[in-house]
Amino acid sequence: MEFSRLLKARRMHRHFLPDPLPAETVARIAEAAMRAPSAGFTQGTRLLVLNEQASLERFWGAVASPKWLAAPSRAGLSNAPCVMVPFQNREAYLHRYSASDKVYAGIETAEDFAAPFWTVDAAFAAMLVQLAAIDSGLGCLFFGLPLGVAALKSAFNVPAALEPIGAIAIGTPSSGATSPSAARRSQLRAESVISYNRF
Ligand SMILES: Cc1cc2nc3c(=O)[nH]c(=O)nc-3n(C[C@H](O)[C@H](O)[C@H](O)COP(=O)(O)O)c2cc1C
Repeated sequence: MEFSRLLKARRMHRHFLPDPLPAETVARIAEAAMRAPSAGFTQGTRLLVLNEQASLERFWGAVASPKWLAAPSRAGLSNAPCVMVPFQNREAYLHRYSASDKVYAGIETAEDFAAPFWTVDAAFAAMLVQLAAIDSGLGCLFFGLPLGVAALKSAFNVPAALEPIGAIAIGTPSSGATSPSAARRSQLRAESVISYNRF
């Protein structure tokens, strides 16, 4: 898809058809995450791909209550045939920035990072996954994990150092409903967001 069309098409979907996705499509979307830049080329982000019914049921059972899933704004979310969970790894960045080619940066503790690069990198990867899904003619939703992360980590034997930054539901949209927040709030104008040369 042409980039300007891709940008225009970028929006969140919360209602999906249960139709399964071809394995090649899932792999292509997942592997887009590997094209993300990473600070110091740490490559600290990990992606858990769920595209089997049993895994998806385990995921929703761990992260969401039936009441949360049944809310009208997201009824149809758990139909999504694929969920990808990007994980950040703070320890990997602390380790990387203590290496001999990085000590010049003077970063020794997590507080020394002007921004948490482990989160920045995982978010970059998550965005590429979303763009790849849209480029495949699908819809997606990035969402925060409603019940927290402990149950998810235990359900999928997630290594202790990895923390999910959220999850991405992917599938064929069954509704064109606008995001509830976007429906309530208007899009800012460019001059409110972008400052040229000074604020
Ligand atoms: C970090 C982040 C967390 C989000 N969490 C949720 C969420 O938990 N549930 C949800 O329905 N949407 C969630 N969204 C989607 C936003 O509500 C949505 O992007 C915003 O309303 C703008 O709508 P649009 O993306 O369709 O343009 C999240 C988006 C981001 C970037």
